[in-house]
Amino acid sequence: MNAGGTQVIWWNTGDLMAPVTELLLLLLLLDAAEAAVAPDDAAAAQVWKLQMKELKGKDSSPPIRDGSAPQLLYCRAGIGYHLQILANGTVGGVHKADANCWMKVFALKRGVVGIKGVESGLYLCLSADGAARAAKEFSEECLLKENLEENLYTTFSSLVHPGIFLALSHRGELRRGNRVGRHQASTHFLPRWSP
Ligand SMILES: *[C@@H]1O[C@H](CO)[C@@H](O)[C@H](O)[C@H]1NC(C)=O
Repeated sequence: MNAGGTQVIWWNTGDLMAPVTELLLLLLLLDAAEAAVAPDDAAAAQVWKLQMKELKGKDSSPPIRDGSAPQLLYCRAGIGYHLQILANGTVGGVHKADANCWMKVFALKRGVVGIKGVESGLYLCLSADGAARAAKEFSEECLLKENLEENLYTTFSSLVHPGIFLALSHRGELRRGNRVGRHQASTHFLPRWSP
């Protein structure tokens, strides 16, 4: 809205509350549509965009869990790696946690979370082809199903692309999430609040 014509995208301010309202809405829509259409249907994406426009500037309700305490996500693959989001959107893992490993994990509804890199301010997203990337804008690809597995590790998988998991290789590199499953160590994460 300034004279320079720069379009400031309102939910990129580092405020977690704003995207949350949109997502609660999307989740309601997804719930309603679950029986009839696949959640990754193009129509759902269209509705999502329209709703975002309508919600612009409106009040937001508090998230279920605001993730205000940054945490590390430790993956038990190989020698053990901490999930890392770099400023250029690259997602990977490092054995020794650094500033890029601190994440805010915020719940959007039971079992569905978003993950934001504290340093980069980017959201972790999973694409249909299984690639993980971090993006400035929250989209439906950043909606992650959080599952507590029997071994007490947590797996994160895409809400809109079923079967795509967040995974690191035994060398700490990002693994394509369509070639792994919940029984593999590469998909097992443990939250940590100190390195
Ligand atoms: C992102 O930054 C890292 C570290 O600076 C670098 O190794 C990597 O190649 C970069 N990736 C891209 C896609 O630019």
